Amino acid sequence: MIALASDHVGLELKREIMAHLEALGLPYKDFGTYSAERCNYPEFAFLAASAVARGECEKGIVCCGTGVGISIAANKVKGIRCVCCSEPYSALLSRQHNNTNMLAMGSRVVGKDLALMIVDQWLQGKYEGGRHQIRLDEIQALEETGEIAKHNFL
Ligand code: RB5
Repeated sequence: MIALASDHVGLELKREIMAHLEALGLPYKDFGTYSAERCNYPEFAFLAASAVARGECEKGIVCCGTGVGISIAANKVKGIRCVCCSEPYSALLSRQHNNTNMLAMGSRVVGKDLALMIVDQWLQGKYEGGRHQIRLDEIQALEETGEIAKHNFL
């Protein structure tokens, strides 16, 4: 299950992503917003990110005007690694190296076709583990303690 959310600016892009996921046969849950009425993206980022953090949804995709605000908000939820992307290379590498569990995009930045290419690369990317896990463990420790406990200069 993929958690989706947007603000009013990202609404149309989110709808394009929904149609794409439907065509791929991938289930999703839309946490809003549901109308073009002006709203605040942190509220919807929080709903989608919490569903991912709780394990109710495996991954999440969120949209606002730039993808920036909604990704910052999603990343405030413990356990979330949300990448804000405007090209497919970083989307793929963010899965392979950073094990991102959320993707954010901006409707004012990327067009529909590019956005769907980014979604596809992100969904196809598989976490490689290995040396990358040390860094993710450091990020997790930083999130939990506010410190880097041990410096691993490799
Ligand atoms: C809303 O005007 C806009 O600020 C929002 O969609 C997003 O771009 C924030 O990062």
